[in-house]
Amino acid sequence: MKARILRIAAASVVGLLIAAGIAWWQVDHAQHNVQSSVPIGGPFTLTDQTGKTVTEADFKGKYLLIYFGYTYCPDVCPTELGTMARALDLLGAQGEKVQPLFISVDPERDTVAHLKDYVGLFHPRLVGLTGTPEQVKAAAKAYRVYYNKAPAKDGKPDEYLMDHSSFLYLMGPDGRFLGVYPGGTTADRVAQDLGDRIAG
Ligand code: NI
Repeated sequence: MKARILRIAAASVVGLLIAAGIAWWQVDHAQHNVQSSVPIGGPFTLTDQTGKTVTEADFKGKYLLIYFGYTYCPDVCPTELGTMARALDLLGAQGEKVQPLFISVDPERDTVAHLKDYVGLFHPRLVGLTGTPEQVKAAAKAYRVYYNKAPAKDGKPDEYLMDHSSFLYLMGPDGRFLGVYPGGTTADRVAQDLGDRIAG
């Protein structure tokens, strides 16, 4: 038992270090507005909350604001999706040029029907995406997203949390990575930056 706890603790520390490393790298690059040598983003094939198969090509011509998370997340995801929604509202008509996406890292529980109920709670234009575990893994890998299933409570295998990195990714209308807003960035700040970029 002790060995198992130690293993879990060691795995968590390694995971956090990786996430922190990625976070530092992304924030650093976003703030300096540098096009990184390691590409972020790319092709994905997922299923939206209406059951339709979608790829990145379906959103071409729009700015994409992308958040990876899961609907059972007790705190971080709802906070960040709320920020995303408020930022879009603050942008008014300019917000029409931005497509908000929520990509699940928990395809096991985030079914199409479940996603539909969830995204509607935040913004009428928020698109929820899920897929097979392989599809989700590929999308997360493209965006350098870290996620990992945390151990479930004893005797309740369905009640687990997902550890995951928390960033709002901004992609340009041409599909290029423009930067990330780290978790905790205010809606005002996101709206201001997005508005400046859209006004160009
Ligand atoms: Ni979350």
